[in-house]
Amino acid sequence: MCGIFGYAGERNDAAELILEGLRKLEYRGYDSWGIAVGEGPRAAVDRRVGKIGDARPKLPASSFGLGHTRWATHGPVTDDNAHPQLDCSRRLAVVHNGMLTNEAELRQALGRTGHRMRSHTDSELIAHLVEDLLGQTSAGETRLVRATMAAFRKLRGLNAIAVLDVQSGEIVAAKSGTPLVLGKADGGHFIASDHSALLEYTREVAFVNDGQAVLLDRTQLRLFDIESGNELIPELTTVEWDAVSADRQGHPDFMTKEICEQPAVLRTIAQRSLAHVTELAERITQAGDVYIVGCGSAAHAALSAQHQLARIATRRIITASAYEFEHHLPFIGANSLVIALSQSGETADVLDATRAARAKGAQIVALTNVEGSSLWRSADLTVPLYAGPERCVLATKSFTAKLALSWLTAHALVGRLEAAREALENTASELEDLISGPRREAIRTIADAIRSQAHLYVIGRGSSHPLALEVALKIKEVSYVHAEGFAGGELKHGVIALIEPYTPCIVLAPNDETRDDVLANALQVKARGAVLIGLASEYHPAFDHHIPVAADSSSVPQLVQAVVAQLLGYDLARLRGHDPDMPRNLAKSVTVK
Ligand code: AGP
Repeated sequence: MCGIFGYAGERNDAAELILEGLRKLEYRGYDSWGIAVGEGPRAAVDRRVGKIGDARPKLPASSFGLGHTRWATHGPVTDDNAHPQLDCSRRLAVVHNGMLTNEAELRQALGRTGHRMRSHTDSELIAHLVEDLLGQTSAGETRLVRATMAAFRKLRGLNAIAVLDVQSGEIVAAKSGTPLVLGKADGGHFIASDHSALLEYTREVAFVNDGQAVLLDRTQLRLFDIESGNELIPELTTVEWDAVSADRQGHPDFMTKEICEQPAVLRTIAQRSLAHVTELAERITQAGDVYIVGCGSAAHAALSAQHQLARIATRRIITASAYEFEHHLPFIGANSLVIALSQSGETADVLDATRAARAKGAQIVALTNVEGSSLWRSADLTVPLYAGPERCVLATKSFTAKLALSWLTAHALVGRLEAAREALENTASELEDLISGPRREAIRTIADAIRSQAHLYVIGRGSSHPLALEVALKIKEVSYVHAEGFAGGELKHGVIALIEPYTPCIVLAPNDETRDDVLANALQVKARGAVLIGLASEYHPAFDHHIPVAADSSSVPQLVQAVVAQLLGYDLARLRGHDPDMPRNLAKSVTVK
């Protein structure tokens, strides 16, 4: 949640440069944005509600600055609550990603020492706290970093902060829980919430660990331990992604680009992941009990993995949404394996669950996409998703990448990895045809037919049940249609009461052991007037609309079902006038609890 971007260097257009950086981070929160640069002894600030769009900064030339995109936690979405927030003297500008859990206590203490707040945010308190401590910190070259570290030690919760002192041109940042990355480029230094925003300027980065602070200006890039104050050496590394891979590359939006990249992602996984999944299969075999956790789409991928490992490898694993993992902890020990699924590698609940499991002695395996993310660096084994940068808030290629990896792992457990690899290659070809062939138009026609419907239901059984949940999530989070996914068997226990004439119902009916039962369920809702949309290997006369999926059984039906849902959700969003990349109220990486 929230995006932080800062620069200090030789260029004199810091405001424009930072705005470009914020555009690349906007998927982390788009309620408002803001930038502060130096203008003599006081900060010049431009803060606005809403998305950046094609805005230009109204700020003076400067060679340093700090910017922020906001996902509101404390205080309504207003210009005054946008970041950067300032101290009383307007010398310090602060941006914040996280939530202060001791906000009330800090607000009282600062009120007693005469600080007057201009906003309703918790973040503004940090500016005044640093101002207070700067006054109590002895002069010297690291005065701002010492004052900021002292302030940071007083904050509670998962937070990343950055403080700009416009009088020295220094930026100090500190973190616990939410991500921060340093960038080293010719003629300047950067701080950002994730490295994909730095790729245009540099691929040489250092990932900041929890409990660390950084000081950067035009000439310095320094790292400190917050607790002891000791200086550390930043570990610079060159990341794999490049600026082109993070760009829209001529597509109308990132959702379209990332949907279209899925055939290539599956082929990359089929080529580059065999050693990773073999190692993972080995660890599953050796472990006493195996858990798989995630949130949102990643939780659906976890549930799908549970079905695949049971059906293909007769291996039982326990699935949990990371925010409900706590009640599994009493059973976790040194013989436990916890597999954590997360595109961003920064989802707070996933990091909490893996930290708690590790404390109980468990091994942690990460299936994650963002190189250098907290989960990527903290796991005992990291299995890359190889999906490339994913900027659309919706998980599309990262979801199918997770399914592809669990599909390969299940087959590796029973010595059929080569057959599974071939099925992935076939699925990649089927997706190419789905995305650009006649079925693409058929999906558009269905979207047009149901565009004004307020409710939609999805039914699937067995391995298609997790997909029913994912299909519903994709449709609701991008089109705002109230979509619910169910196990087909659940219908008659209550849900069928929601079915009215013309209610759209998507039926996931691949050619497997669930087909007959789910078609029976489809006929039961049809009898109440539902409009049936069959995502099925074969046509059925009850279908009002049919999208053939994995008709020749050489590809993985769940992967094709997922992409049909992404395309249907996209078309509905466009028809209903919504932004597919940045849906309302959402953000790409959920770094607060
Ligand atoms: C999915 O489209 C959503 N963006 C959301 O549910 C997402 O899957 C969830 O927040 C988990 O994110 P992660 O994979 O980065 O941990």
